[in-house]
Amino acid sequence: MDFELLKQQKTEDINVFLKSFLPEETGKEAILCEAMNYSVAVGGKRLRPMILLEAYAMFGGKDTAAQPFAAALEMIHTYSLVHDDLPAMDNDMYRRGQLTTHAKYGEAMGILAGDGLLNYAFEVMSDAVCGQGKNAARAMRILAKAAGVRGMIAGQTVDLEWTGKPQTKELLDYINERKTSALLCSALMAGAALAGATEEELSVLKQVGNLVGLAFQIKDDILDVAGDETKLGKPLHSDEKNEKSTYVTLIGIDEAQETVKEFSRKAVELLETLPYENRFLKELLLSLVTREY
Ligand code: IPE
Ligand code: IPE
Ligand code: MG
Ligand code: MG
Ligand code: MG
Repeated sequence: MDFELLKQQKTEDINVFLKSFLPEETGKEAILCEAMNYSVAVGGKRLRPMILLEAYAMFGGKDTAAQPFAAALEMIHTYSLVHDDLPAMDNDMYRRGQLTTHAKYGEAMGILAGDGLLNYAFEVMSDAVCGQGKNAARAMRILAKAAGVRGMIAGQTVDLEWTGKPQTKELLDYINERKTSALLCSALMAGAALAGATEEELSVLKQVGNLVGLAFQIKDDILDVAGDETKLGKPLHSDEKNEKSTYVTLIGIDEAQETVKEFSRKAVELLETLPYENRFLKELLLSLVTREY
């Protein structure tokens, strides 16, 4: 089947089970659940859950055991976006083609919806761990560390600390490896761990995910200046507004795009050293080089 069509089908499948893991909008706190569900509901590419499920399949996983982890990862990623958009951070009003959570529900509810999504992810995963055992616990540990104080939150911290200051490529890589690569690595590694991959295999996937994440963030920075806002679903020039250094400000769009290509090529080359194959996953990773949103 055509890659684009297959990707669309897989995205729809993810949207269906993702919804089933989200909270019902009941109780006096219904507004919190509504704001959480609104943030997740539409427009995201679902890249991280898709990668997690493909890694699971690549290592021989055949059932639906990876779904709660894929859903939890998308909740964690979405919370990171909700908080990233807050006035205290990037102060953006538009995300996934609609108002950002704080723009629609107010700043306090933006903070709480983010908190809610992060915690709910762990509720969903711990339920799965109780039912599934060791490999599920390994997957939860991988996702917890990636999202945590040495992972995504560290990246967001250093990103903020260095706002408005001149940066080197080394520092940008430090930030991007944490704020973006960490969750993408965890998608590959948690999916594979759930299917019983060895620690050696996970360490190869970590390197793959690291390169994918670096490429993904540089592409995000390119799209921030040269993308199409309606396709992107978020405002252009957020980085300039916030005085962020990026690969684009450091080496220009053309060289930045070459770097995206180079990192992605290396990522797939490394993935191919593993004794398993997943052609869809390979194509998915390569398609990120030319993505428009
Ligand atoms: C945006 O991630 C944040 C970055 C790490 C650059 P995505 O581009 O995957 O956002 P969605 O999930 O599709 O909205
Ligand atoms: C943020 O990077 C990555 C996160 C961990 C949320 P950006 O600030 O560039 O992401 P966008 O452009 O707002 O999606
Ligand atoms: Mg940001
Ligand atoms: Mg941002
Ligand atoms: Mg950006």
